[in-house]
Amino acid sequence: MHNGKARAFTNIALIKYWGKKDQQLILPMNSSLSLTLDAFYTETSVSFSKDYTQDLFYLDGELQDEKATQKVSRFLQLAREQAGIFEHALVYSQNFVPTAAGLASSASGLAALAGACNDALGLNLSTTELSRLARKGSGSACRSIYGGFVEWKKGHSDQSSYALPMASNHWEDDLAMIFILINDKAKKVSSRNGMQQTVETSLYYDDWLKAADADIKKAQEAIENHDFHALGQVTETNCLKMHATTLAASPPFTYWTPDSLKAMNKVYAMRDAGQDCYFTMDAGPNVKVLCQKKDSQKIYEELQKEFPEQQLVMAYAGKGVESLETEVAK
Ligand code: DP6
Repeated sequence: MHNGKARAFTNIALIKYWGKKDQQLILPMNSSLSLTLDAFYTETSVSFSKDYTQDLFYLDGELQDEKATQKVSRFLQLAREQAGIFEHALVYSQNFVPTAAGLASSASGLAALAGACNDALGLNLSTTELSRLARKGSGSACRSIYGGFVEWKKGHSDQSSYALPMASNHWEDDLAMIFILINDKAKKVSSRNGMQQTVETSLYYDDWLKAADADIKKAQEAIENHDFHALGQVTETNCLKMHATTLAASPPFTYWTPDSLKAMNKVYAMRDAGQDCYFTMDAGPNVKVLCQKKDSQKIYEELQKEFPEQQLVMAYAGKGVESLETEVAK
């Protein structure tokens, strides 16, 4: 029996990863930059044993169906090949999210699984190697290996595509992100399918790539200079450019709902009134508001006027993946 357990926090991209040039290896079309947050995390334990006849995956206490298990199995297989240990595994994963608002994250999930496999199989991976392994589970997971500001350098091969922590002198500790959880009754387009459809069909995709390169540089500079205004501006405009590509895809689609627009407008109105805050959105309707910690309580209260408290979650900078003591598998 080989056991391992790890915890990983989720991250939100300020400059988005949007598109793959290699689906198998998960090599991205553009570099991205994120902030790891403390409010959402996943704990995963894994045991490999020759007594098991198949991989089993429990999420939040429930045995998962074939489709969900396949994604995990595909990842376990990569770890098994890397270790030369070919035993089936039992995976227990728990998502810690403040509300049950469908915020399960593949970034924290796959980063925790990578950490747990590293321990269980005695892979002894460096953080760079762990980031590369997590990347092959879900692209954004490679960034959750580290805390604070993180850059995923797109690279051009399995070897050269991984995330690195950014020097910031702990500036991330001065920042906050407020999540506005928005109910979505519409059929969801996963980030995986959405980005692929965009790469293949969006008229604006080439322009997105040019913009993303320039935006990474702006964000790096803003972080170096601890310039919140510049970081907020580039975060918000990069998000809008990413979402513009989906409208020019064929068929077109959008992740925005009326409430997403209401939240964006609220951020604009708060800015007009002198509050320093900026929004970003991912492959779903939730809106995340980036602000400075010193203003976060006030901005939270202001958002509360528009959205009930149960829809808001305050997050601060979080840590990278960490190993946990393995208990006897439950
Ligand atoms: C919009 O990492 O979930 O959140 O690599 O296919 O698993 P896969 O996709 P995923 O995509 C994240 C897309 C995004 C932007 C980002 O996090 O950079």
